[in-house]
Amino acid sequence: MPNKLSTTFTGLEFVNPFILASAPPTESKRKILKAFEAGWGGVVTKTIGLHPVENVAGPKTIYQRASEQKPYVSRMKRPDTVSHSSWNWELISDQPLDLWLPDLEEIKTTYPDRMLIGSIMAGAGSAEEMANWQKLARAVVGAGCDALELNMSCPHMDRKDMGANIANDEDIIRSILAAVTEAVDVPIWVKLTPATSTLVDAAGAAYAAGASCISLCNTFPSLPLMDPETLKFEVEVDGLVTSGGLGGLAILHQALQRVCDISKAYPDKEISGIGGIKGFREAFNFIAHGAGNLQVCTAAMEEKGSGGVGVQLIQELTKDLSEYLDAKGHASIEDFRGIARSRVVEHAQVRRKSEDYNGGYAQSA
Ligand SMILES: Cc1cc2nc3c(=O)[nH]c(=O)nc-3n(C[C@H](O)[C@H](O)[C@H](O)COP(=O)(O)O)c2cc1C
Repeated sequence: MPNKLSTTFTGLEFVNPFILASAPPTESKRKILKAFEAGWGGVVTKTIGLHPVENVAGPKTIYQRASEQKPYVSRMKRPDTVSHSSWNWELISDQPLDLWLPDLEEIKTTYPDRMLIGSIMAGAGSAEEMANWQKLARAVVGAGCDALELNMSCPHMDRKDMGANIANDEDIIRSILAAVTEAVDVPIWVKLTPATSTLVDAAGAAYAAGASCISLCNTFPSLPLMDPETLKFEVEVDGLVTSGGLGGLAILHQALQRVCDISKAYPDKEISGIGGIKGFREAFNFIAHGAGNLQVCTAAMEEKGSGGVGVQLIQELTKDLSEYLDAKGHASIEDFRGIARSRVVEHAQVRRKSEDYNGGYAQSA
C-alpha cells in the first residue's frame, strides 16, 4: 500500500507533511528523538548560532488563554479557558554548535527516514558574518542535516543585522543565500518574518537567489498585556519588557493571508506553512493556500504530558489527514494543494448588491 501521507517537498521525501518548527520542541536531542518516535515527519532544529546566548532572568514563554469571563485573555489559570496564543521572548539555542553536531549525527542515524532541517542564524553586512553563515551551514550539513532553514525572522534581536531586522533588505537576503549556497548543496529553506509590508518582494528575492522554500510565519512582534490593578506585565523582568513574538491560534488567519500572498505571486514555488496549526482543519487551510509542508510549535508545546513535543497531536494530525484523503478519494495532499488560491481576489472582483461600487472612491467627473 502506498503511503498517501508521504510528500516530496523541496526534493526531500517526508513520511508525512507535519514537522515540528524551530523552537523548544526541537531544542535537544532528547526531544527530537521523542518527536520522531511519536511520528513527526521531520523537525527544524531550534536555531543554532555562533554567538553566546543568555536568556532573560524570568519565564521565556507564556501561554495565553481566552475565557468568557473577565479577564478575557490572560495567562492566569482559570477554569473553562481555551488556548489563545503563546508569547515568547526566547532567544536562539543556548547549546553551542560543537555540542549540537554529535547530537544531530545520532538523531539522523537513529531515524534516517525523518527529515532533519538545521535552523541557523548569523549576522549580515560583513565578510566575517557571511563566513559565519557558511561555517554553520557546513557544520550542520556535515553532521547529517537534510536541509537548512535560514532564520531571517527572529522578532526579538537588538542587533540590526540579524533576525527579523534583515528580512526587509533584499540585498542582505541575496548575500546570505549566495554565501550559503556556495557552502553547501542541500535544499535551503528561508524563514521570513510576517512583520513587513514587503514580504512578497523578500520572498521573491530569496527564491531567485536559490531558496527552495519560504517558511512562514515566524511569530508576530508583540507585547504582553499589563494588569490594570498591579501595573505588572503578564511577563516581565524587574518591571521591564520588550517586544516578543506571538504564536498559536491568534496568528492563524494572518499567517494564512501571508502564505496566500506568496503562493499567488509564486505559484510554482514551495512554502512551508506555519502559524496556529492545532489540528487538521488549520493544516488543511495552509495546504489549500499552497503550502506543501506544515510546521507546528505552540500546539505541541501546550500538549500536557507530551514533554512539549505533541505526541497525541501528531497522531491526530496524521489520522485526520488520512481519513480526509480517503473520504475525498485523494491520492495525496497534492490533489487539493492550492485550491483556495484562485478564489482570493481583489475587493472589486467580489459581486456587489448593485453596480454602484467604484473601488471605494467617489467617481471622478
Ligand atoms: C518559545 C518559542 C521559541 C521559538 N524559537 C524559535 C527559533 O529559535 N527559531 C525560529 O525560527 N523560530 C522560533 N520560534 C517560532 C516558531 O518556530 C513558529 O514559527 C511560531 O511559533 C509560529 O508557529 P505556532 O503558531 O505553531 O506557534 C519560536 C517560538 C516559540 C513559541
